[in-house]
This record gives sequence, C-alpha cells and structure tokens, in this order.
Amino acid sequence: MTKILAIETSCDETSVAILSGQTILSHVTFSQINQHKQFGGVMPELASRLHTEVITLMIDEAVKQANTPLSTIDAFAFTRGPGLIGALHVGLQAAKTLALIYGKPCIPVHHLAAHIEAGHFTKPLIYPYMALLVSGGHTELIYVSGPLQYKRLGGTRDDAVGESYDKVARLLDLGYPGGPKLDALAKLGQPRYPLPTPLNDDSDDFSFSGLKTAVYLLVEKLKVSSFPWYPEDIAASFQHVVMHILVKKSIRKALALGVKQLVVGGGVSANSYLRSLMQSEGKKALIDIVFPPMYACTDNAAMIGLLAQVYYQTNLFGTMKLNADPNWKIEDAKLF
Ligand code: KG4
Ligand code: ZN
Repeated sequence: MTKILAIETSCDETSVAILSGQTILSHVTFSQINQHKQFGGVMPELASRLHTEVITLMIDEAVKQANTPLSTIDAFAFTRGPGLIGALHVGLQAAKTLALIYGKPCIPVHHLAAHIEAGHFTKPLIYPYMALLVSGGHTELIYVSGPLQYKRLGGTRDDAVGESYDKVARLLDLGYPGGPKLDALAKLGQPRYPLPTPLNDDSDDFSFSGLKTAVYLLVEKLKVSSFPWYPEDIAASFQHVVMHILVKKSIRKALALGVKQLVVGGGVSANSYLRSLMQSEGKKALIDIVFPPMYACTDNAAMIGLLAQVYYQTNLFGTMKLNADPNWKIEDAKLF
C-alpha cells in the first residue's frame, strides 16, 4: 500500500495526515479559530505565521500517532491551491523539504477537488457523478467525469454559502466562525419570516448577497418594532431559504444530467439541515446522496491524502520548482 503524508494549510487549519491507501493511520489538526476570532474573520498574515509556528509539531505528532517513521513514507502531498498564498506556502515548503530529504516525490493537490472526493471516505464514488461544493469561499456545481476530471456547471454569482452564513451570524452577534453557530441556533427556531428566494430560476447559478441584505433589513426593522422577536427564527428562516434553493438546483441538475450520485463537499456540508434535506430529496429523486464523514467536511489533511493517492496512481508528481496557486481552477487539477 502506498503511504502518503499529506499537509493542508490553505486557510486557518494546520492539518497533517498519514494514509496507507485509503486507510487513515493518523490525522492531526490545529485550528487557528481562537486566534482569528478577535478579528471576526481570518487574518491572512497571522494565518501564515501560525502555520509556520506549528507545522513541524503537527508533522511530528502525525508521525508518532501513525507509528511509522518518515523514511517509510512514499510521497509527501500538500494543498497547492486555491487558498491564501502565504498559508499555502507553508505546507508547500514543508512537503518539498521532506521530499528532498527522503528522496521521495511531492504531490500538489487541488483543495476543492479534495473536498469533493472526501465522499470516498463514506462509500465508493462511481464516475460520472455530480458534486455540490459548498465552502467558505466557493459554491459550485461540478460534473466529475473521471479521476481528476472536473467541469464547472454553475455556481454563485456573489457570496459563497459559507461566507453568507458567517456574515448573517455576525448580524446576529453569534461570533466567528458563524456557520456552525447559525446551524445550531436555527434548530431552536421556526422559519416564520418570509425571505426572498434568490435566483429562483432555470439557471444553474446561485446568489446570496441580496439575501444577506434582506436579513439585515429585517433585523433592523424588528429591532425598532414593539413585537417580540427571536434570533433563532431569523436563523431558521435564512437557513430554510438557502438550503432549499441549493438542494432544488442540485437535484434538478443531477436529474438533467442523468447521474446516479450527487456528492456534497466543503465546510458547509457539515450543516445538519443540508444533510437531512438533501438526503430526503435525493431519496424522492432516486439519486444516491453522499456526504463526507464529519471529520472530512471542514478543512483537513485526510482528504488531501486521499486525493493524493489518485495523483500518485496517475503518476502526477510535483517538482522542486513548483509554486502554490491561490487561484488554481478545478478544471486544471491535473495541470501544475
Ligand atoms: O471548507 P471550509 O472548512 O474552508 C474553506 O475552504 O472555505 O469551509 C468553511 C466554511 C465557513 O464559512 C463555515 O462557517 C462553514 O464552512 N461551515 C458551516 C458549518 N460548518 C462550517 N456552515 C453552515 N453550517 C455548518 N454546520
Ligand atoms: Zn476548504
């Protein structure tokens, strides 16, 4: 079995995993959330510095937990993009250095493709399939025709879903990161406020910035009214509109393409309402819905290691000249 050590540093998690084939031998993640909280979002410069501070500790810990010396590793994988350039550089330099020391190849991995293929941890994915990618920076519908072959079908025209969750959570003073907090709060409320469903049309695109403004205006109106109101109802109303349009357009497209599987990936795939709504609608449409296990939804190195195995089998390796690409397109996942 090919043993790969994988590093993920594209945003605010420093994560290292060691995989033997598809089996995870160790997986350690340092989340920088507490350090970024005070700024209400990720500070890129601080993220790079924190990655630099902990990367060697995380590699050391992953090696200890896997109980396998670095000399037994067959390849060193890292997230090459997309992501924050300074943050990506830390993982890239660490992987290249290890590759150089141990005389093994390094493997550049596409972060968004890895989010999608994390569904393989749940069950085998059968090509062709469709994916809904929902993260802090991306909301895309993607057609996956084969290993490392992706085509963008549509996506957000403005804010990403995760971004709009974080912004609405800020409006409700829930703190950072808002996604999981808004998800938890929404469970306590009812979707009693009618919010406009954005881009409820025949296109395969989404739009979330107008909805965020609608929530802002609603909150401002409620604040000066004499009626009692509850933030959990706002959260539930927002979540209801967002998830219904995401699920509706994804299933419609999957049916139109005739694919049998629909994989959901990215940080927002951890959302409880999305998970249950997508499963129930998928059942009605006879489409197999696949979500990654919770540990592989938000940024993690296990998914990087899993996709690195495909790069390895395809003989796609990086060179010492290779650089990070903060805007690496998913269609170019094989090009570097
Ligand atoms: O994929 P990810 O970890 O990082 C990026 O590559 O962007 O996604 C992070 C995003 C954040 O916006 C976070 O608020 C959102 O995923 N998120 C959630 C939930 N868990 C994380 N959004 C809604 N509900 C959740 N349970
Ligand atoms: Zn991500």
